[in-house]
Amino acid sequence: MKVPLLDLKVQNSRIRDLAVKKFSKVFDSCEFILGGETEFFEKSVAKYLGAKHAIGVSSGTDAILVALMAIGVGEGDEVICPSFTFFATAGCVARLGARPVFVDIDLDDFNISAAAARRKITKKTRAILPVHLFGQTANMDAIAAISCEFNIPIVEDCAQSFGAKWRDRQSGTFGIAGCFSFYPTKNLGGFGDAGLVCTDDDDFAEKVKILRVHGAKPRYFHRYIGGNFRIDEVQSALLTLKLPSVDGHIENRRRNAEIYLNELTALPGIVLPRELDGNFHTWNQFTVRILNGRRGEIQQALEKEGVGSGVYYPLPLDAQECFVDLVDGKNLTKNAAIAASEVLSLPVYPELEPHQILYAAKALKNALNFG
Ligand SMILES: Cc1ncc(COP(=O)(O)O)c(C=O)c1O
Repeated sequence: MKVPLLDLKVQNSRIRDLAVKKFSKVFDSCEFILGGETEFFEKSVAKYLGAKHAIGVSSGTDAILVALMAIGVGEGDEVICPSFTFFATAGCVARLGARPVFVDIDLDDFNISAAAARRKITKKTRAILPVHLFGQTANMDAIAAISCEFNIPIVEDCAQSFGAKWRDRQSGTFGIAGCFSFYPTKNLGGFGDAGLVCTDDDDFAEKVKILRVHGAKPRYFHRYIGGNFRIDEVQSALLTLKLPSVDGHIENRRRNAEIYLNELTALPGIVLPRELDGNFHTWNQFTVRILNGRRGEIQQALEKEGVGSGVYYPLPLDAQECFVDLVDGKNLTKNAAIAASEVLSLPVYPELEPHQILYAAKALKNALNFG
């Protein structure tokens, strides 16, 4: 049997005819960028998230970038972010000339440690950028408390957390901005690159919209130095088509995760992920920790049995070559380093059937028992 880490063929085949119709509609309309499809998609997502505004953009990376630009992050500023995340989180900060301040994570959920974040606040801190990694939100009570105490805005990196909730409230709705990615592997995946910024703040929304089109309003009259952060109509049309299925997909992910958790419980040599109190985990990734330096060996054994797996991410950001000048090499984030050396993500995507998850779990149990 083959259980790939991700296979979009089944999901795509189920919507093929409708998707082709949508393609044709956009094709015939000759309206390819920021048109009616985008307006409709933005309204639909805003409603889903419970946010006042949703602004479609070109990618999750650009969502973070434009949100930070709208706040005015720039030279001399610091932005607090976790050390264990995808590069884009901190890359956007650095691209604006600001300094990403890397904070360690909690190993319980791989998310930013609020206590550690608090210790890194300085007069230069311009934003806190928590990431809801693997589909589970960071502790937003604790982060919101820091934001209130120091009057620092929160920009949430929700690239992996579409549909995730903290105390029944959607991720992305806690700070000034929630930044989503519709990269094909995400809970709501596009057919290419796309992203979204949501916010409840009217002025902020207006600024993001202007920045999205090179800072111009009206056209060719540039109020700000923006960029091309526009979303394509074809993405908006296809994402509109997929949006009603997202909750069902998340339920399937949750079912799959539950099977793993039941099957793999109390095994030595592995730490299982958990849904922490207050969270509605969407399991964009089901990520275990493989202890005792055995990750490479286990990954190979899984591959032999036809079970895919992935390492997200093998190196914390504070240990990345491009950030070497920003960090004090003696105080690198410890939990992030542990996670980087131990994490292994297993197949959990919604179209996987329970028997496939059982097969993958058995392959993992066998691999662990052989050592
Ligand atoms: C945590 C995180 N932040 C940001 C991004 C960037 O999103 P995109 O690939 O849509 O630019 C990703 C996507 O991979 C991500 O996982």
